[in-house]
Amino acid sequence: MVHRPVMLREMLELLEPRPGQTIVDATLGAGGHAEALLEAMMGQGMVLGIDRDEAAMKLAGDRLARWGEAFKAWKANFADLPGVFHEQGLARVDGLVADLGLSSMQLAEASRGFSFRLDGPLDMRMDRSLEVCAADLLNRLSPEALERVFREQGEERYARRVARMVVERRRRSPWRTTLELVEALERVMPGRRGRIHPATRVFQALRIATNGELENLDRLCRGASDLLRPGGVFVCVSYHSLEDRIVKEHLREGTLWEKLTQKPLRPAADEVAQNPRSRSAKLRAARRR
Ligand SMILES: C[S@@+](CC[C@H](N)C(=O)[O-])C[C@H]1O[C@@H](n2cnc3c(N)ncnc32)[C@H](O)[C@@H]1O
Repeated sequence: MVHRPVMLREMLELLEPRPGQTIVDATLGAGGHAEALLEAMMGQGMVLGIDRDEAAMKLAGDRLARWGEAFKAWKANFADLPGVFHEQGLARVDGLVADLGLSSMQLAEASRGFSFRLDGPLDMRMDRSLEVCAADLLNRLSPEALERVFREQGEERYARRVARMVVERRRRSPWRTTLELVEALERVMPGRRGRIHPATRVFQALRIATNGELENLDRLCRGASDLLRPGGVFVCVSYHSLEDRIVKEHLREGTLWEKLTQKPLRPAADEVAQNPRSRSAKLRAARRR
């Protein structure tokens, strides 16, 4: 399953990558955006690709090896980028790109536990060196904490009902697999039919909580102004309202940023038709003053 880069044209128009520049791709994934940047820079300059997922690093590393010195991949949490830059004494860069969420490869791999359509362990760690996985949250959090996760990170209306079900069921046997959870959710949310699957929001909440996604995004956005030189551009693509709210909050017009998108850009109809994963994408961009 190859991941198709989302809103690539819009991203390139805003970044205007040129030979000799240095651009950080904070979410390397399959390397689709990174490769397009390298092409636009004609392989002159540098693209630094960051991902916290070892498997993505390997895949993108192989795919982009032909660019030689112009491409480097690092395993890191993008929240730590300002610290990494500082420690390594790296100069500020011309562009920063973040394309949030999961790659198609992560979603399609049953053993990662991200998909409610595939049977696998309730893992959901993007970085497999994290100590706590999604099953641990289900098996260990208090009912109140679970309810908060489902409500605040999944915007799940039935957060309390789901939290109670999770706690009751773990008294008999611990949570282990994705489909056990899906079946239990289908039972507590009877008659809930419509556009989205009943497990969608709970899976989203568990994934966000397992990976600390909202805190990480907040730290990335807060640190972004220290990574970019004046005139440098930050482009961020998010996939749900919780993420978009954080990006919007940080990239406000002011002393640090000149907004390049008044409202978030949405993918064109033909992109959504060709790549349904893009349908919820919102792109915001700003230039460092
Ligand atoms: C949507 S994919 C990126 C796809 C990529 N733009 C492409 O064109 O192939 C998001 C990637 O970001 C990574 N990621 C998510 N949160 C991260 C974080 N806090 N630090 C580093 N990488 C992260 C995920 O592991 C995933 O590989």
